[in-house]
Formats: sequence, structure tokens, C-alpha cells
Amino acid sequence: MAFTVSHIFLLVIFLFPFQYCSSYLTSLKKGSSLSVEKYEEDVIVSSNGIFSAGFYQIGENAFSFAIWFTELQNHSHNPANIVWMANREQPVNGKHSKLFILNTGNMLLLDAGQHNTWSSNTASNAHLELYLKEDGNLVLRELQGTTILWQSFDFPTNTLLPNQPLTRHTNLVSSRSQSNHSSGFYKLFFDDNNVLRLDYDGPDVSSTYWPPSWLSAWQAGRSNYNSTRIALLDSLGKFISSDNYIFSTYDYGIHMQRRLTMDFDGNIRVYSRKNVSDNWHVSWQVISDTCIIHGICGANSTCSYDPKKGKKCSCLPGYKMKNHSDWSYGCEPMFDFTCNRSESTFLKLKGFELFGYDSNFVQNSTYKSCENLCLQHCNCTAFQYTYPEGSNIFQCYTKLQLLNGRYSPSFQGITYIRIPKGNNFHKEESVSVNNDVCLVQLHRDYATKPTSSMVKFFLWLSITVGGLEVVCFFVVFVFLNKTNKKSNANPQNTYHALLGFRRYSYSELKVATKNFSNEIGRGGGGVVYSGTLPDQRHAAIKRLNEAKQGEGEFLAEVSIIGRLNHMNLIEMWGYCVEGKHRLLVYEYMKNGSLAENLSSKTNILDWSKRYDIALGTSRVLAYLHEECLEWILHCDIKPQNILLDSNFQPKLADFGLSKLKNRNNMNNNSEFSMIRGTRGYMAPEWIFNLPITSKVDVYSYGVVLLEMITGKSSTMMNIEGDNAEVAYNGRLITWVREKKRSTCWVEEIIDPSMVNNCDLNKMEVLARVALDCVEEDRDIRPTMSQVVEMLQCHDKDVE
Ligand SMILES: *[C@@H]1O[C@H](CO)[C@@H](O)[C@H](O)[C@H]1NC(C)=O
Ligand SMILES: *[C@@H]1O[C@H](CO)[C@@H](O)[C@H](O)[C@H]1NC(C)=O
Ligand SMILES: *[C@@H]1O[C@H](CO)[C@@H](O)[C@H](O)[C@H]1NC(C)=O
Ligand SMILES: *[C@@H]1O[C@H](CO)[C@@H](O)[C@H](O)[C@H]1NC(C)=O
Ligand SMILES: *[C@@H]1O[C@H](CO)[C@@H](O)[C@H](O)[C@H]1NC(C)=O
Ligand SMILES: *[C@@H]1O[C@H](CO)[C@@H](O)[C@H](O)[C@H]1NC(C)=O
Ligand SMILES: *[C@@H]1O[C@H](CO)[C@@H](O)[C@H](O)[C@H]1NC(C)=O
Ligand SMILES: *[C@@H]1O[C@H](CO)[C@@H](O)[C@H](O)[C@H]1NC(C)=O
Ligand SMILES: *[C@@H]1O[C@H](CO)[C@@H](O)[C@H](O)[C@H]1NC(C)=O
Repeated sequence: MAFTVSHIFLLVIFLFPFQYCSSYLTSLKKGSSLSVEKYEEDVIVSSNGIFSAGFYQIGENAFSFAIWFTELQNHSHNPANIVWMANREQPVNGKHSKLFILNTGNMLLLDAGQHNTWSSNTASNAHLELYLKEDGNLVLRELQGTTILWQSFDFPTNTLLPNQPLTRHTNLVSSRSQSNHSSGFYKLFFDDNNVLRLDYDGPDVSSTYWPPSWLSAWQAGRSNYNSTRIALLDSLGKFISSDNYIFSTYDYGIHMQRRLTMDFDGNIRVYSRKNVSDNWHVSWQVISDTCIIHGICGANSTCSYDPKKGKKCSCLPGYKMKNHSDWSYGCEPMFDFTCNRSESTFLKLKGFELFGYDSNFVQNSTYKSCENLCLQHCNCTAFQYTYPEGSNIFQCYTKLQLLNGRYSPSFQGITYIRIPKGNNFHKEESVSVNNDVCLVQLHRDYATKPTSSMVKFFLWLSITVGGLEVVCFFVVFVFLNKTNKKSNANPQNTYHALLGFRRYSYSELKVATKNFSNEIGRGGGGVVYSGTLPDQRHAAIKRLNEAKQGEGEFLAEVSIIGRLNHMNLIEMWGYCVEGKHRLLVYEYMKNGSLAENLSSKTNILDWSKRYDIALGTSRVLAYLHEECLEWILHCDIKPQNILLDSNFQPKLADFGLSKLKNRNNMNNNSEFSMIRGTRGYMAPEWIFNLPITSKVDVYSYGVVLLEMITGKSSTMMNIEGDNAEVAYNGRLITWVREKKRSTCWVEEIIDPSMVNNCDLNKMEVLARVALDCVEEDRDIRPTMSQVVEMLQCHDKDVE
């Protein structure tokens, strides 16, 4: 009996995995090859199973030698899984194509058995193997020793994997479209000034669109002194570039599969997913208003962007779309251009802006003289008449080409485009292909009896004539919406993480808040109003009390806060600085603050929600204290500043009192000349004038935990007297400490509303962490990341 059982056991252990693995390769040795006919089995799989390398079908009878995230058997081919391609410009035929490792040490890709389409240009007498590492790097290495002859990480196509560096020798080039993997128009690279940059390199023109070309490197927050030129996304979701460009993904800190891709629409996005059975979701993107991307709608077109619907391309009045399946071809005129000035007229487009290709610029111009300036030149196609904010003079720009046109809410001017008289071009030809980009399926026919010239002919023929099977994808937003629904992350959050950060005018915010009529909160140096932004988003708008800061200082601080990005941090959408007005625009939280929810009688916060709030808040504080480039203290942690989203996830708010500090300057207390914070939550350091460190936030956090556990407010346990601050805190803390002496202390302290339905073990964890946090001696208090660890570890225990 025992024998039979162990026998079966052995079978299970050895036979099944063996059978499963035997159809894939772990490596390819010198002298052997992979063949396209066996593309389903001839696949090299990394030892963790995450990556595969081999022939990937990218069209009918068209294959590329590629690396991809291993796909589920039943999933349809998803081009988003491809991370690298050897022959992106020249797919190979589905018959007789092979990848060889020659005895000379060179790696070769043969198309239809005859044309060399790609090679690694390596040579070696040693024994070699082609091996796919766990991080997705395909390496050709010597079997003895550590020499690597070639590796795919040195030749990225459009994707960087975590820990794959972008260097001075490499760049990312977008694909032509979702289905056409040939090189497209957009490129991410380090320029000669050591700055990471995005260029549009279109069929006719090229230009830089990120960072904005009118800003110096310094103004764009970059440094151009570090000539190392290296940029890297780490596996937790943090990107660091040697030019000082740094960001963290929206889901930073969680172990995920990630990829950073130069997408065909000119945006860089980081995608992540938990594992192979999930969909990819966008966890970061560089440009929110995609109309900023040059060439996105082609020439002679307009682009308008709506945060809810995404971008929309249209042709300018009098123009029609050149190729209905591809906006990058732009629009062409439906009229003949005339040089005769008395036959020209102008059409007025308000809020419409054209970037670049100016032929003349006149400061302080009148409308008439601007129009005349344009009419004088045959090659003037439009002029832009602007009135920059704050000045009462008009500026005139005449345009040679109608490129990079977009409607922009912040553009203060009017564009007049030139059209012949007597036509009725008043409406834009709105072939508004919202976000659906029409894509062409690649076809590759195979000549049954290939002779060299026949193959050439057929390939040529199929590339040129074939490909009429049109497949439309609703790309960016529909894709996002879909993945949002499927992923368990809060869709609101992911969605908002993608929206922009912009400057608002005072009048815009005045309208948004209906003249500051609906006050929803107060404190932290200002009053908060609810409002609706021009794009219909519901926002909380904080009006800071008075301009204590100069504009420069304010902008510097705002730009740092604007760059912070954490799922438990309230999102800042923009700001306004005009004269003495300083306003901040935040996302609006429907469920109000933790304080409101704790004091409400509805018992809506059960123990598990409270635990999640404690964990989320500790995560964001750890992020602020330890992960950010700048060292940030919040200094005013209290239940009023912890807002709750629709899933009751916490969002830390109110940086009104926060202070950015240089990490190396931690003992310098001079910046904190004024006591910050709120009675009841302030650490003893404030009162005894001790150095201020991140431990002040730890203390306040501890008090908040105690309030969440007990349902009692620290400020309600009120006494009067000289040492009132100390006593305020003292009351709740002392009470809990005293209770702790008894054996059933947790039951005695927890909020009566939770008594009947509560995980006492978890509440005990919270209470112990809270008491550690409120130690008088700041050196005994844990750091915020230690708190995260303690809470996270118990979170897992219970599950
Ligand atoms: C995968 O597809 C095959 C046939 O296409 C089917 O028999 C099998 O049940 C599917 N497996 C799953 C997990 O859906
Ligand atoms: C340049 O950048 C690299 C990578 O970010 C960094 O390790 C290095 O210290 C920087 N060098 C200087 C001189 O700042
Ligand atoms: C992927 O995640 C799902 C749900 O989180 C889990 O059930 C499944 O086992 C995971 N698969 C792998 C291969 O890790
Ligand atoms: C439009 O573009 C597609 C894809 O680039 C191309 O195959 C097709 O021939 C073009 N159509 C016209 C009318 O130019
Ligand atoms: C855009 O319009 C101009 C005339 O205004 C024309 O000369 C040019 O060829 C058009 N561009 C394209 C890509 O058709
Ligand atoms: C310009 O157009 C006007 C009106 O159509 C015509 O009378 C005039 O002769 C034209 N001038 C030239 C130089 O063609
Ligand atoms: C603009 O031009 C007008 C008339 O030419 C002149 O009166 C005015 O002073 C100018 N304004 C500035 C700011 O140069
Ligand atoms: C546009 O036309 C003017 C004269 O009409 C000429 O001086 C200028 O060089 C032209 N510009 C371009 C870019 O062709
Ligand atoms: C893919 O794009 C390249 C470059 O624009 C083009 O030459 C090729 O014809 C395209 N292939 C298909 C099938 O449209």
C-alpha cells in the first residue's frame, strides 16, 4: 500500500513536470537552431516561466524573433506582451525561417531559408548557449566562464524591463501602430545635453515635445551635468534617470510584472500586472494631455483633449483626412492655394494653438497689421494673434505650416487660418475618430516553391498590396476602462493618476467654485471649497490664507508636491498663482474625512476598514519619509486630514503645513520656528523644543491609531492648564496604557460599536503599534516603514 502511494507520488513529481517542460527549451546551444514551423514548441522559456523567446506571429504568415511575457494558452495573442524584437522592420516568412547559432559564434535569422534578416555580429570559438534570464534578458554566453557575447538588454526596441538600463548607446523607438511593429515616429533617448527627451521624427518634420522645448533643462527640473546618461525602472516601480528625472508608478512598492513602453501614440507608459492571468494596466504615463504630443493628429488638423474621453482629432475647416485609417498622415486642403491677396480670407478659431513653424513674430501688433503681414507672403497659411496673460498688448505670429494644432484651455489667443474666399468652409470636417485608431493587419503570403526572386516579389507584393483587412481597436481609453474594471485597483484612482497637473487662472477657479460659495473645510492655512472644474471633474479647491511665499518659492513647492504620486496621497490636479492669490486644486473625496466617519453614528467603519486605513496611511507616510527625493514631513497628521475614497481607502491630505527638508540637514531646526500641527496630535518635541524629525509624524499617527481603535477623540478628553498640550495627548494615551495592564485590555479599549464584530488579534496589533508610536522618547518610536512592516505582516497572517 505504502509502496503504491509513494509510487504514484513519484510519478506525479517527476513525470508530469517533465512532460510539461519537455515541450519547451531552457536554452539553445551552438550549432542548433529554432525553426518557425515549430514556433509553438521551439520556445526558450526563462526558469521562472515569466518570459519566452522564439518566433512570434505578428501577422498572417509573418513572424518576428521576439521575447514576450509568456502567454496563457487560451489567451489570444496580445502584442502588448512583446518586449523585444530582433527583426521589427522585416518580419520573416512562416516557412523555412530559422534562427541559428552558427559554429562561428554568430547568431543569424534566416528568412524563408535564404535571406539573412538579422544577426548578432558575434564570433567565438567557445561553447555557447542562448539563454533567457529571469529578468527577460536574452543572453548569448559562453558555457564556461561568464563572458556574455550579446544580450537583448543592449538593444531595446520599444520597451524597457525592470532593471534594464537606458544608456547613451540605446533608445526606445515606438512601433508604427498597434499592429505594425516597424519603427514608428517617437523616440526616447538621452540628448547631447545629457537630458532624457522625447522626439517626434515624422515623415516630413521632427521636433521635441518633452520636456517642453521652450524650457531650459533647469526649468524643466532636469540636470544636464551628469554625463553618465543612464535611466532605470526598478522592479518596485521607481524610475530614476541621471538627469534627475524621477518618478514612482501609481502602484509603487508592490511586486508586479512591469514594463515601460514607448507607445505608438508618442506617450511613455508603465504597465503593470500581478501575474499572467491579469490584464496589463497603466500605472504611470508621462503625458496626460495627449494633444501635446507632436504629430499625433498629423498636419492640418486639430486635436482636442477631454480628460474623460481622451483625445479627438479633426481636420481643419477646408481640409480632409488623407488616409482614413491613419491620422498620422494628417489632412490635405480641399482647395487650391492662391497668392492673390484679394482672394484670401481668414477663418477665426478661438483657443486654437499651432506649435512651431513661425515665419514672423511681431510684438505689440494690431489685428489689421498682423493680417497684412500674413497676406504679403504666399507661404503664410495662418496667423496667431495672442494676448498673453497680464499684458495688454497683442502679439502676432505668422505660420508657414499648420502643425501640432490643438485646442487648449490655457491658450490665450486666436488663430486665423487662411482659406480662399467664396467657399463655405466653416465647420471642421469632424471625422472624429475619437480614440479608435484603425489598424491594418499585416499579411504575409508564402510562395510555395520559392525561388529567390519569387519570394522577393511575393513579399514585396504582399507588403504593398496586402493588408486590407482592417481591424479597429478602441485603444487608450477603452482599453483603460476595460482593464480598470477587471483589475481590483480602484478605477477612479488609476484613472485620476493619468490626468494632468496644470495651472489654473483665478477666474477659472472662481467660476468652478461658484465664487467660493461652497465651503467644505477649514484649517492648514486656508479654506477648502468644493467645485467643478471646466472639464467637469469634481474638485476640492483650497484657497491659502495669504501670500506669505513669493511666487517662485510657491511654484517650487507646488511642483514637488505635484510630482508626488502615491495611491494613499490625495491627488493634486493643479494650482493657481496670480497676484496674491494662491490656490491648490485637489481631487474631491466623496466619503469625507476619517474624523467625520469616526464621529458619525452609522458605524460604517468596521474593524477591517480601520485596519486598512491604518495600513494605507502608514504606507503613504513611509513613502513621504523615506522614498521621496525630498524629505517630507507632514507635521499635521490627524483624522481630519485623512480622507476616504469610495472604497474607504485612506488618502492623506493637506500639505499646508508640510515642510520639505534636505535629508542631510536633519538637525537644523531653524526652519520650524513656529509650532506646527494640531493640539492633541503633537509630539512632545514641539513642546520641549527638541529637534524635529520624521518621528513627529510617527507620534501623531500613533494618536490617530488610538482614536481609530477606541473611537474616542484625543481632543475631547479635554483638560485646562499650563501644560495643556501634553495633557491632551496624555489623557487618551495614559488611559490605554493603564488598560493594557489587564488581560482583556483590547476588548476594554475598542470602540463599543465594534465589540460584536471584531478581529481582536488585529486590533491588538494596531494597539501595540499605536503605543510604540506614541512613546515620549522619539528614538524608541518605530520608523514609518517599520510600522508598515508590522501591519503588513499581520495582515498576511490573518488571511
Ligand atoms: C483552452 O482551450 C481548449 C480548446 O481551445 C479547451 O479545451 C480548454 O478547456 C481551454 N482551457 C481553459 C482553461 O479554458
Ligand atoms: C549621475 O547619475 C548616476 C545615476 O543616476 C549616479 O549614480 C551618479 O552618482 C551621478 N553622478 C553625479 C556626478 O551626480
Ligand atoms: C494569479 O493570480 C490569481 C489571483 O490573484 C491566482 O489565483 C493565480 O494562482 C495566480 N497565478 C499565478 C501563476 O501565480
Ligand atoms: C493608409 O495607410 C495604410 C497603412 O499605413 C496603407 O496601407 C494604405 O494604403 C493607406 N491608404 C491610402 C489611401 O493612402
Ligand atoms: C497641409 O496643408 C498645406 C496647405 O495649407 C499643404 O501644402 C500641405 O501639403 C498639407 N499637408 C499634408 C500632409 O497634406
Ligand atoms: C486677384 O483677384 C482679383 C479678384 O478675383 C482680380 O481682379 C485680380 O486681377 C487678381 N490679381 C492677380 C494678380 O491675379
Ligand atoms: C503698442 O503700440 C501702440 C501704438 O503703436 C503704442 O501706443 C503703445 O504704447 C505700444 N505699447 C507697448 C507696450 O509698447
Ligand atoms: C516665404 O515667402 C517669403 C516671401 O514671400 C520668403 O522670403 C520666405 O523665404 C519664404 N519662406 C519659406 C520658408 O519658404
Ligand atoms: C508598417 O510600417 C512601415 C513603416 O511605416 C511600412 O513601411 C509598412 O508598410 C507597414 N506595414 C503594414 C503592413 O502596413
